[in-house]
Amino acid sequence: MTSFSIGDADFLRDGQPHQVIAGAIHYFRVHPDQWQDRIHKARLMGLNTIETYVAWNAHEPRRGEWDASGWNDLGRFLDLVHAEGMDAIVRPGPYICAEWHNGGLPVWLTGGERELRSSEPAFLADVSAYLRRVYEIVSPRQIDRGGPVVLVQIENEYGAYGADKAYLEALVAVTRDAGITVPLTTVDQPVDQMLADGSLPELHKTGSFGSRSAERLATLRKHQPTGPLMCSEFWDGWFDWWGGVHHTTDVSAAAADLDVLLAAGASVNVYMFHGGTNFGLTNGANDKGRYLPLVTSYDYDAPLDEAGDPTEKFFAFREVIARYAPVPEELPTRTAAAPAFDVALAPLGAWTDAAASGPVTDRPQTFDDLSHLSALVRYDVELHGAGGLLAVDDVRDLAWVSVAGQPVGTLSRTRHDRSVRIPAGGLLSILVEDQGRVNYDHRLGEEKGLLGAVTLDGVPLTGWRSTPLDVAAIAAEFGERSGADTADGPRAWAGDFSLEEPGDLFVDTSEWSKGYAFVNGFFLGRYWRNGPQRTLYVPAPATRAGANRLIVLELENLVAPRAAFVGALSLGDTEE
Ligand code: GLA
Repeated sequence: MTSFSIGDADFLRDGQPHQVIAGAIHYFRVHPDQWQDRIHKARLMGLNTIETYVAWNAHEPRRGEWDASGWNDLGRFLDLVHAEGMDAIVRPGPYICAEWHNGGLPVWLTGGERELRSSEPAFLADVSAYLRRVYEIVSPRQIDRGGPVVLVQIENEYGAYGADKAYLEALVAVTRDAGITVPLTTVDQPVDQMLADGSLPELHKTGSFGSRSAERLATLRKHQPTGPLMCSEFWDGWFDWWGGVHHTTDVSAAAADLDVLLAAGASVNVYMFHGGTNFGLTNGANDKGRYLPLVTSYDYDAPLDEAGDPTEKFFAFREVIARYAPVPEELPTRTAAAPAFDVALAPLGAWTDAAASGPVTDRPQTFDDLSHLSALVRYDVELHGAGGLLAVDDVRDLAWVSVAGQPVGTLSRTRHDRSVRIPAGGLLSILVEDQGRVNYDHRLGEEKGLLGAVTLDGVPLTGWRSTPLDVAAIAAEFGERSGADTADGPRAWAGDFSLEEPGDLFVDTSEWSKGYAFVNGFFLGRYWRNGPQRTLYVPAPATRAGANRLIVLELENLVAPRAAFVGALSLGDTEE
């Protein structure tokens, strides 16, 4: 048995002063067969603790359908941390931000009129039920019961969102009732108002920042006068959005900031140690006046890259950490370059014109009305020979407009592009993509689809058929086909290739336009020529010795009908 507590100046592990040197790995962003490898490498950098968020919407995408197996096996993840001889920090939210879809909140929770992240009773009831489930997993794995968990965080940067103390108090009550006895923390940006609003007197306040460590620790100290100082998110890189650049941070500057933190005796959680990937449709988005959906890679310019290889930052951080704590001698090796080869792609057929289904209503239904969790809804309405200026109140987020099967233009939330002139015709179809739910600030939880009225020359169009398209199911269905087709317009494509043994692959998407890719049914994620990201990461466990099949669901056109597998990841242009 071991104990973990907060002393007058330090964390106390078994009564001894202890500096937490942690790194973040989100189990939900890493293939479960690779968890152990990533955790082991964290220890090799000198970390003594692994931190993870819990993504509620990964565990319970539909109300009541709770899953804690496979990718969602948080208990197994924590057990692997323990087996590695490391401690664990768990941050169950319920809100996690994290550039993750809807900040971790399930769509079924946010669709209604409820006040999110507040003490509103209906919201609290659902949150409490969720937390109790998480704590069933976490509670027996606390350090004083022989497990790895030393700290649990309440909410996440709550001071950047609200100031409802009753909400925080309720979260603490549920947490303690569920048998969590380790110290509880909060994290906030080092801004007086946020540190004041985001916590409670009985919670240990920590900060989130990636530079100017000394100044930030001083701000934190004003709000947390006793006990250990902790940077719970030492941002060592940053995230990328479509249409932007790939963000990197200077290795020596990041290492120097880490050094300042550790020299000050502060505890730290490197965010991220290993970012992983927003596989499938799990990326979030930001909107501070301009909607910016986040890319598929969550490499984050972290010490361990998206594919689990150590970078220059890994070795620089290891060197810094070695000044303050024992670091294992073993060094991780970089994996050899992935095999580079081209695969011809064969068109399998049009995939967005699935037979109309779903309700016919006056106004288009939102994704939320339809309880639709996949990326696309097609809205069809009969024009009865009319044409003119088509205008939508709000498009979330990107739409392809066609009349009688002929493409006529796009509408885009990012571009604030809400109208298009359309020719007279029969059936108007608007295919709308949810590009990722906002994960930060007050647009959290907003609905997707065509919102409000859709007008033609100012007159509302009515009688809409809203057909949900499940891209993973469509990929699975097309994956069984072999027939050839013409290459015109949005097509599903297949590429067959053979491998001698399973291994990581990187598929270059720069000759494709926009869509979704799958290997052997595993949903790699979204691609977009908009960049910056150029390669999709194919984790080794998704591949197999012998025959493998790539399926590409392209929404526009391929420049060339081929898939180029390349040796290494390519996340795009940086600012310099
Ligand atoms: C904040 C959040 C994290 C993450 C980072 C940016 O600190 O708490 O979840 O969103 O910003 O990567």
